[in-house]
Amino acid sequence: MSQTTPALKLSNIELHYGYVRALDGVDFHVQPGEIVGLLGDNGAGKSTLLKVMSGAHRPTHGTIEVNGQATAFHTPKDAAAVGIQMVYQDLALVEAQDIATNLQLGREPLRGFPFNIIGFVDHKAMQRTSAEQLSRLGVRTAPMNRPVEMLSGGQRQVVAISRAAVRVMESGGVILLDEPTAALGYEQTQLVEELIVKMAQQGIAIVLVTHNLPLCYNLAHRIVVLNRGRKVADIAKTETDMDSVVGWITGAKKAM
Ligand SMILES: Nc1ncnc2c1ncn2[C@@H]1O[C@H](COP(=O)(O)OP(=O)(O)OP(=O)(O)O)[C@@H](O)[C@H]1O
Ligand SMILES: [Mg+2]
Repeated sequence: MSQTTPALKLSNIELHYGYVRALDGVDFHVQPGEIVGLLGDNGAGKSTLLKVMSGAHRPTHGTIEVNGQATAFHTPKDAAAVGIQMVYQDLALVEAQDIATNLQLGREPLRGFPFNIIGFVDHKAMQRTSAEQLSRLGVRTAPMNRPVEMLSGGQRQVVAISRAAVRVMESGGVILLDEPTAALGYEQTQLVEELIVKMAQQGIAIVLVTHNLPLCYNLAHRIVVLNRGRKVADIAKTETDMDSVVGWITGAKKAM
């Protein structure tokens, strides 16, 4: 695989919700280790595009390639199977369980014989693995055995994003983030920001949807702007400025 093969590439994507054309001929790609900021006003089609990437919606037209291989997703499981993980705003963590359990959810290690036959989960191993994975990501969060219901919003967001990272870390992959910092304060936003940078450094491709322009400007290598379902800009951050980006978002600036 060459350096230039995108981790994820969408071509000519069109998606209708009844009469609403939410996406109209959108091309999009993200490279391994790249952070792409996906911007646009309310209703521009950002979440819809993420849902196409994550297999939650099937496009009316268009093609999807993962690591250069044409593919079609019927469900989010299909996308997850090839290393694409979406982090939703509502997080989907299991509140009463601890951090380690949440990180390993669905892939819990079993204890050795004879406990494995009756499905005893190896909590020690789980906490060890989780601590290892988080430290590779540079995450220092609450102790692994603390229930998620006792975490703050920001800590939960970090766990949710870390979980997605842990799932794709071994194989490389793509993480889709829809407004990951919308509900967070300054310090918690910093935490999530650091985590996003660390994930990219591990080779994970990241698509970041946000209304927070300074955040996007801090993190993104490339910026893509949607306006009423069409892509109006796709440009390296170093080749543009925030005024232009705002112009594309509002429609004041002509499409590239
Ligand atoms: N389930 C749905 N059924 C019908 N129309 C929808 C549905 N979801 C989104 N839309 C419409 O599709 C368009 C794009 O919506 P989308 O949620 O992708 O926008 P967005 O860019 O994520 O906006 P926001 O910044 O407000 O989250 C909008 O016109 C919206 O009303
Ligand atoms: Mg949205």
